[in-house]
Amino acid sequence: MTTRIPIIDSETCTGCGACVHVCPKSHLELVAGTARPLVDECMLCSHCYCVCPVGAIRFDPEALRPVSFDTFPCDEKFIPPGTTPPGILVNAIRSRRSIRSYTDRPVSDDTIRDLLQFAVTAPSGSNRQEWRFTVINGRDKVRQVAGEIKTFFLKLNSLARNPLIRYGSIPLMGTALLRYYNDHYQSVVNAIAESERGRDLLFHGAPALILFHGPMIGSTPVEDAQYASYNVTLLAHLLGLGTCYIGYAVESINRLMKLKKRIGIPAEDRIHAVLALGYPSSRFLRHAMRKPYSAQWY
Ligand SMILES: Cc1cc2nc3c(=O)[nH]c(=O)nc-3n(C[C@H](O)[C@H](O)[C@H](O)COP(=O)(O)O)c2cc1C
Repeated sequence: MTTRIPIIDSETCTGCGACVHVCPKSHLELVAGTARPLVDECMLCSHCYCVCPVGAIRFDPEALRPVSFDTFPCDEKFIPPGTTPPGILVNAIRSRRSIRSYTDRPVSDDTIRDLLQFAVTAPSGSNRQEWRFTVINGRDKVRQVAGEIKTFFLKLNSLARNPLIRYGSIPLMGTALLRYYNDHYQSVVNAIAESERGRDLLFHGAPALILFHGPMIGSTPVEDAQYASYNVTLLAHLLGLGTCYIGYAVESINRLMKLKKRIGIPAEDRIHAVLALGYPSSRFLRHAMRKPYSAQWY
Protein backbone atom coordinates (compact mmCIF):
# COMPACT_ATOMS: atom_id res chain seq x y z
CA MET A 1 0.00 0.00 0.00
CA THR A 2 1.43 3.43 -0.92
CA THR A 3 1.48 6.12 1.74
CA ARG A 4 -0.85 8.96 1.01
CA ILE A 5 0.28 12.59 1.27
CA PRO A 6 0.54 14.20 3.80
CA ILE A 7 1.92 11.73 6.31
CA ILE A 8 -0.11 12.05 9.52
CA ASP A 9 1.14 10.53 12.75
CA SER A 10 -2.06 9.06 14.21
CA GLU A 11 -0.43 8.71 17.64
CA THR A 12 0.23 12.46 17.83
CA CYS A 13 -2.90 13.70 16.03
CA THR A 14 -5.50 14.93 18.52
CA GLY A 15 -8.32 15.03 15.97
CA CYS A 16 -8.78 18.79 16.38
CA GLY A 17 -9.76 19.06 12.68
CA ALA A 18 -7.71 22.21 11.99
CA CYS A 19 -6.06 20.54 8.98
CA VAL A 20 -9.40 19.29 7.64
CA HIS A 21 -10.79 22.80 7.86
CA VAL A 22 -7.88 24.49 6.07
CA CYS A 23 -7.23 21.97 3.25
CA PRO A 24 -8.07 23.78 -0.03
CA LYS A 25 -8.79 20.47 -1.80
CA SER A 26 -11.06 19.07 0.96
CA HIS A 27 -8.67 16.17 0.86
CA LEU A 28 -8.52 15.35 4.57
CA GLU A 29 -11.19 13.90 6.86
CA LEU A 30 -11.45 12.82 10.46
CA VAL A 31 -11.73 9.05 10.83
CA ALA A 32 -12.08 7.55 14.29
CA GLY A 33 -10.71 10.70 15.91
CA THR A 34 -7.66 11.26 13.68
CA ALA A 35 -7.09 13.13 10.45
CA ARG A 36 -6.46 11.14 7.26
CA PRO A 37 -5.92 11.96 3.58
CA LEU A 38 -8.97 10.75 1.64
CA VAL A 39 -7.50 10.58 -1.83
CA ASP A 40 -4.17 11.18 -3.58
CA GLU A 41 -4.96 14.71 -4.64
CA CYS A 42 -2.71 16.71 -2.36
CA MET A 43 -1.41 19.87 -4.08
CA LEU A 44 1.44 20.14 -1.60
CA CYS A 45 0.51 23.56 -0.23
CA SER A 46 1.39 22.25 3.27
CA HIS A 47 -1.31 24.36 4.91
CA CYS A 48 -2.26 21.34 7.01
CA TYR A 49 1.31 21.24 8.35
CA CYS A 50 1.16 24.99 9.00
CA VAL A 51 -1.93 24.78 11.20
CA CYS A 52 -1.35 21.51 13.10
CA PRO A 53 -0.99 22.51 16.78
CA VAL A 54 0.84 19.29 17.73
CA GLY A 55 3.16 18.80 14.75
CA ALA A 56 1.55 15.56 13.62
CA ILE A 57 1.84 16.27 9.91
CA ARG A 58 4.88 15.87 7.70
CA PHE A 59 5.77 15.44 4.05
CA ASP A 60 8.27 13.30 2.23
CA PRO A 61 11.40 15.51 2.01
CA GLU A 62 11.62 14.59 -1.68
CA ALA A 63 8.30 16.36 -2.20
CA LEU A 64 8.62 19.36 0.11
CA ARG A 65 11.56 20.92 1.84
CA PRO A 66 12.01 23.78 4.25
CA VAL A 67 13.32 27.10 2.96
CA SER A 68 16.61 28.29 4.43
CA PHE A 69 19.25 30.88 3.62
CA ASP A 70 23.04 30.69 3.69
CA THR A 71 24.20 34.26 3.24
CA PHE A 72 22.23 36.05 5.93
CA PRO A 73 20.78 35.13 9.31
CA CYS A 74 17.07 34.42 9.29
CA ASP A 75 15.49 32.65 12.24
CA GLU A 76 12.27 31.11 11.02
CA LYS A 77 9.49 32.90 12.82
CA PHE A 78 5.82 32.95 11.94
CA ILE A 79 4.30 36.43 12.18
CA PRO A 80 0.58 36.20 12.92
CA PRO A 81 -1.75 38.68 11.17
CA GLY A 82 -1.83 42.10 12.75
CA THR A 83 1.19 41.67 15.03
CA THR A 84 3.87 43.68 13.21
CA PRO A 85 3.82 47.44 12.57
CA PRO A 86 2.76 47.69 8.89
CA GLY A 87 5.13 50.60 8.32
CA ILE A 88 8.08 48.18 8.41
CA LEU A 89 6.80 46.34 5.34
CA VAL A 90 5.57 49.48 3.61
CA ASN A 91 8.90 51.26 4.01
CA ALA A 92 10.90 48.22 2.90
CA ILE A 93 8.78 47.77 -0.23
CA ARG A 94 8.65 51.48 -1.01
CA SER A 95 12.42 51.79 -0.73
CA ARG A 96 13.02 49.33 -3.60
CA ARG A 97 13.89 51.14 -6.82
CA SER A 98 14.61 50.08 -10.37
CA ILE A 99 18.38 50.44 -10.43
CA ARG A 100 19.99 51.65 -13.63
CA SER A 101 23.62 51.94 -12.61
CA TYR A 102 25.79 49.32 -10.98
CA THR A 103 29.25 49.04 -9.51
CA ASP A 104 31.75 46.43 -10.76
CA ARG A 105 31.34 44.40 -7.57
CA PRO A 106 30.37 40.85 -8.53
CA VAL A 107 27.37 39.12 -6.98
CA SER A 108 28.15 35.77 -5.38
CA ASP A 109 26.35 32.66 -6.59
CA ASP A 110 25.45 31.93 -2.94
CA THR A 111 23.65 35.26 -2.70
CA ILE A 112 21.76 34.51 -5.93
CA ARG A 113 20.85 31.07 -4.59
CA ASP A 114 19.35 32.74 -1.53
CA LEU A 115 17.39 35.12 -3.75
CA LEU A 116 15.96 32.11 -5.59
CA GLN A 117 15.12 30.38 -2.31
CA PHE A 118 13.03 33.41 -1.49
CA ALA A 119 11.61 33.64 -5.02
CA VAL A 120 9.87 30.29 -4.64
CA THR A 121 8.04 31.39 -1.51
CA ALA A 122 5.77 33.44 -3.80
CA PRO A 123 2.20 32.26 -4.42
CA SER A 124 1.40 30.34 -7.62
CA GLY A 125 -1.84 29.32 -9.30
CA SER A 126 -2.95 25.91 -7.92
CA ASN A 127 0.42 25.86 -6.15
CA ARG A 128 2.01 24.65 -9.41
CA GLN A 129 5.42 26.27 -8.78
CA GLU A 130 6.32 25.58 -12.42
CA TRP A 131 8.95 28.31 -12.50
CA ARG A 132 12.49 27.77 -13.63
CA PHE A 133 15.43 30.14 -13.34
CA THR A 134 18.48 30.80 -15.44
CA VAL A 135 21.26 32.80 -13.84
CA ILE A 136 23.75 34.63 -16.03
CA ASN A 137 26.43 35.71 -13.60
CA GLY A 138 29.42 37.71 -14.79
CA ARG A 139 29.68 40.95 -16.71
CA ASP A 140 31.24 39.30 -19.79
CA LYS A 141 28.39 36.83 -20.06
CA VAL A 142 25.83 39.62 -19.64
CA ARG A 143 27.61 41.63 -22.32
CA GLN A 144 27.49 38.70 -24.72
CA VAL A 145 23.72 38.30 -24.22
CA ALA A 146 23.31 42.05 -24.70
CA GLY A 147 25.18 41.77 -28.00
CA GLU A 148 22.83 39.07 -29.29
CA ILE A 149 19.80 41.11 -28.24
CA LYS A 150 21.25 44.14 -30.00
CA THR A 151 21.48 42.17 -33.26
CA PHE A 152 17.82 41.19 -32.80
CA PHE A 153 16.76 44.82 -32.37
CA LEU A 154 18.88 45.99 -35.32
CA LYS A 155 16.91 43.57 -37.52
CA LEU A 156 13.58 44.53 -35.95
CA ASN A 157 14.29 48.24 -36.42
CA SER A 158 15.24 47.77 -40.06
CA LEU A 159 11.79 46.20 -40.61
CA ALA A 160 9.91 48.72 -38.48
CA ARG A 161 11.43 51.77 -40.15
CA ASN A 162 10.02 50.70 -43.54
CA PRO A 163 6.40 51.98 -43.76
CA LEU A 164 5.53 49.39 -46.40
CA ILE A 165 6.47 46.57 -44.01
CA ARG A 166 4.94 48.36 -41.02
CA TYR A 167 1.53 48.65 -42.62
CA GLY A 168 1.89 45.58 -44.85
CA SER A 169 2.38 43.38 -41.77
CA ILE A 170 -1.02 44.31 -40.31
CA PRO A 171 -2.99 41.47 -41.98
CA LEU A 172 -0.40 38.94 -40.74
CA MET A 173 0.53 40.15 -37.27
CA GLY A 174 -1.95 42.89 -36.45
CA THR A 175 -0.63 46.24 -35.32
CA ALA A 176 2.33 44.84 -33.34
CA LEU A 177 5.03 46.31 -35.60
CA LEU A 178 3.20 49.61 -35.86
CA ARG A 179 2.93 49.86 -32.09
CA TYR A 180 6.57 48.90 -31.69
CA TYR A 181 7.51 51.68 -34.10
CA ASN A 182 5.43 54.27 -32.26
CA ASP A 183 6.41 53.25 -28.71
CA HIS A 184 9.94 51.86 -28.86
CA TYR A 185 11.68 52.37 -32.20
CA GLN A 186 13.39 55.66 -31.31
CA SER A 187 14.52 54.63 -27.84
CA VAL A 188 16.00 51.45 -29.34
CA VAL A 189 17.82 53.58 -31.95
CA ASN A 190 19.24 55.68 -29.10
CA ALA A 191 20.20 52.62 -27.01
CA ILE A 192 22.00 51.05 -29.97
CA ALA A 193 23.86 54.31 -30.63
CA GLU A 194 24.87 54.49 -26.96
CA SER A 195 26.01 50.86 -27.01
CA GLU A 196 28.44 51.79 -29.83
CA ARG A 197 29.93 54.26 -27.32
CA GLY A 198 30.23 51.50 -24.72
CA ARG A 199 27.13 52.36 -22.67
CA ASP A 200 24.80 49.53 -21.76
CA LEU A 201 21.30 50.99 -21.78
CA LEU A 202 19.77 47.51 -21.97
CA PHE A 203 21.12 45.92 -18.78
CA HIS A 204 22.47 49.17 -17.30
CA GLY A 205 25.91 47.63 -16.75
CA ALA A 206 24.57 44.99 -14.33
CA PRO A 207 26.99 42.16 -13.56
CA ALA A 208 24.25 39.50 -13.36
CA LEU A 209 20.88 38.58 -14.79
CA ILE A 210 18.15 36.26 -13.57
CA LEU A 211 15.73 34.91 -16.17
CA PHE A 212 12.38 33.61 -14.91
CA HIS A 213 10.81 31.12 -17.27
CA GLY A 214 8.73 28.00 -17.46
CA PRO A 215 6.46 25.90 -19.62
CA MET A 216 3.09 27.42 -20.51
CA ILE A 217 1.18 24.90 -18.40
CA GLY A 218 -0.90 25.32 -15.28
CA SER A 219 -3.42 28.06 -14.79
CA THR A 220 -1.18 31.11 -14.39
CA PRO A 221 2.46 30.46 -15.43
CA VAL A 222 3.16 34.08 -16.37
CA GLU A 223 1.83 35.57 -13.14
CA ASP A 224 3.55 32.89 -11.05
CA ALA A 225 6.97 33.72 -12.46
CA GLN A 226 6.36 37.42 -12.08
CA TYR A 227 5.41 37.14 -8.42
CA ALA A 228 8.56 35.07 -7.84
CA SER A 229 10.63 37.74 -9.56
CA TYR A 230 9.09 40.49 -7.47
CA ASN A 231 10.10 38.61 -4.32
CA VAL A 232 13.66 38.72 -5.63
CA THR A 233 13.54 42.47 -6.16
CA LEU A 234 12.47 43.00 -2.54
CA LEU A 235 14.97 40.70 -0.86
CA ALA A 236 17.74 42.01 -3.13
CA HIS A 237 17.05 45.51 -1.86
CA LEU A 238 17.35 44.42 1.76
CA LEU A 239 20.62 42.62 0.92
CA GLY A 240 22.10 45.84 -0.46
CA LEU A 241 21.62 44.84 -4.08
CA GLY A 242 19.71 46.56 -6.84
CA THR A 243 17.49 45.08 -9.53
CA CYS A 244 15.72 46.26 -12.65
CA TYR A 245 13.11 44.48 -14.75
CA ILE A 246 14.26 44.38 -18.37
CA GLY A 247 11.15 44.04 -20.48
CA TYR A 248 13.13 44.51 -23.69
CA ALA A 249 15.06 41.33 -22.95
CA VAL A 250 11.95 39.21 -22.35
CA GLU A 251 10.44 39.45 -25.82
CA SER A 252 13.76 39.35 -27.63
CA ILE A 253 15.17 36.29 -25.84
CA ASN A 254 11.88 34.47 -26.40
CA ARG A 255 12.44 34.91 -30.13
CA LEU A 256 16.19 34.21 -30.12
CA MET A 257 16.00 30.42 -30.22
CA LYS A 258 19.76 29.96 -30.66
CA LEU A 259 20.48 32.09 -27.60
CA LYS A 260 17.85 30.24 -25.58
CA LYS A 261 19.42 26.94 -26.55
CA ARG A 262 22.96 28.14 -25.81
CA ILE A 263 22.05 29.22 -22.28
CA GLY A 264 20.11 26.00 -21.65
CA ILE A 265 16.52 27.23 -21.63
CA PRO A 266 14.18 24.50 -22.89
CA ALA A 267 12.57 25.37 -26.24
CA GLU A 268 9.06 24.96 -24.77
CA ASP A 269 9.75 27.46 -21.98
CA ARG A 270 8.60 31.06 -22.23
CA ILE A 271 10.59 33.73 -20.45
CA HIS A 272 8.32 35.80 -18.25
CA ALA A 273 10.72 38.18 -16.55
CA VAL A 274 14.35 39.22 -16.77
CA LEU A 275 15.98 40.98 -13.84
CA ALA A 276 19.25 42.85 -13.97
CA LEU A 277 21.06 42.42 -10.66
CA GLY A 278 24.07 44.00 -9.01
CA TYR A 279 25.31 46.41 -6.38
CA PRO A 280 23.87 49.88 -7.06
CA SER A 281 26.13 52.82 -7.76
CA SER A 282 23.24 55.27 -7.53
CA ARG A 283 21.87 56.26 -4.14
CA PHE A 284 18.22 57.06 -3.54
CA LEU A 285 17.28 59.21 -0.57
CA ARG A 286 13.49 59.10 -0.49
CA HIS A 287 10.54 57.09 -1.73
CA ALA A 288 9.23 57.52 -5.28
CA MET A 289 5.80 59.08 -5.73
CA ARG A 290 3.00 57.60 -7.80
CA LYS A 291 0.44 58.87 -10.31
CA PRO A 292 -3.13 59.37 -9.14
CA TYR A 293 -5.09 56.16 -9.69
CA SER A 294 -8.66 55.19 -10.22
CA ALA A 295 -10.53 52.91 -7.85
CA GLN A 296 -14.20 52.38 -7.39
CA TRP A 297 -16.50 50.73 -4.93
CA TYR A 298 -19.55 49.23 -6.53
C1 LIG B 1 7.40 44.40 -16.69
C2 LIG B 1 8.40 45.51 -16.53
C3 LIG B 1 9.31 45.77 -17.54
C4 LIG B 1 10.28 46.76 -17.39
N1 LIG B 1 11.24 46.92 -18.34
C5 LIG B 1 12.23 47.82 -18.17
C6 LIG B 1 13.30 47.93 -19.12
O1 LIG B 1 13.34 47.23 -20.14
N2 LIG B 1 14.30 48.82 -18.85
C7 LIG B 1 14.29 49.59 -17.71
O2 LIG B 1 15.22 50.37 -17.52
N3 LIG B 1 13.28 49.53 -16.80
C8 LIG B 1 12.27 48.64 -16.99
N4 LIG B 1 11.27 48.52 -16.04
C9 LIG B 1 11.31 49.35 -14.82
C10 LIG B 1 10.21 50.42 -14.81
O3 LIG B 1 10.54 51.45 -15.70
C11 LIG B 1 10.07 50.91 -13.35
O4 LIG B 1 9.53 49.88 -12.58
C12 LIG B 1 9.19 52.15 -13.20
O5 LIG B 1 9.75 53.25 -13.84
C13 LIG B 1 8.96 52.51 -11.73
O6 LIG B 1 10.19 52.70 -11.04
P1 LIG B 1 10.51 51.87 -9.71
O7 LIG B 1 10.61 50.40 -10.14
O8 LIG B 1 11.81 52.40 -9.21
O9 LIG B 1 9.39 52.07 -8.75
C14 LIG B 1 10.29 47.55 -16.20
C15 LIG B 1 9.35 47.31 -15.20
C16 LIG B 1 8.42 46.31 -15.35
C17 LIG B 1 7.44 46.03 -14.23
